[in-house]
Amino acid sequence: MTTELAPAPASTDVILRLTDVHTYYGAIHALRGLDVEVRRGEIVTLIGANGAGKTTTLRTISGLLHARQGSVELDGVDITKTEPHVLVTKGIAHAPEGRRIFSRLTIYENLLMGGFTRNKAENEEQVAHVYELFPRLKERHAQKGGTLSGGEQQMLAIGRALMTRPSVLLLDEPSLGLAPILVQQIFRIIREINDRGMTILLVEQNALQALSIANRGYVLQTGEVVLSGSAQDLMVNETVRKAYLGED
Ligand SMILES: Nc1ncnc2c1ncn2[C@@H]1O[C@H](COP(=O)(O)OP(=O)(O)O)[C@@H](O)[C@H]1O
Ligand SMILES: [Mg+2]
Repeated sequence: MTTELAPAPASTDVILRLTDVHTYYGAIHALRGLDVEVRRGEIVTLIGANGAGKTTTLRTISGLLHARQGSVELDGVDITKTEPHVLVTKGIAHAPEGRRIFSRLTIYENLLMGGFTRNKAENEEQVAHVYELFPRLKERHAQKGGTLSGGEQQMLAIGRALMTRPSVLLLDEPSLGLAPILVQQIFRIIREINDRGMTILLVEQNALQALSIANRGYVLQTGEVVLSGSAQDLMVNETVRKAYLGED
């Protein structure tokens, strides 16, 4: 009898699986046969130029768009046609591109809006958890969303997504438009959220930053995966470096 010293990960370790996903906007064929896998506990990053299909991929996972062909599975269950409000209760949280926070509501009220699937006691507990991750939000809890800086709005968008206690967090361009020092801070917090056990699918144009905190990555180009691998391998890859430097 043989003993497996390093057994292959069980298939249940794959929390999200996209297989041959094709997504359209009307006649526009935005995703062209995407295969992406996210395992429990990982940070996986999708990188690629503007228009590559990163946002469309996240929308296809969170149910805002449905794949016309192919499948999306969460924990082995087909969710290709599942509606977004149902997916939120199944553990998918999406902090969208552009943050979309409520400008007339306070930080605290914005967080409670995020917790619509939970009861009051659960929400209070989760608000406390978010304030622990983002002390800056706690300090400003009564401040209106519209008066926050870009970095604070991003923190709020992430905090709000965490309110449903997701099992997978989808983050769309969290560093977009932020000053370099805040970019560092946001990436540090994403890392910390992951260290506490959260699985994260991170979309970024800032490829090297994203790869520096990710386990694995996929490079998207016009709706297709053109390269994938460990973050370490991708970081030294010539194609990635060219894309990152904008030479391509
Ligand atoms: N609402 C939309 N209607 C039509 N086409 C869209 C829409 N949103 C995105 N697209 C197109 O889909 C492709 C992928 O876009 P997107 O996923 O937003 O890229 P990324 O997030 O990587 O910048 C692009 O060609 C873009 O023009
Ligand atoms: Mg985008």
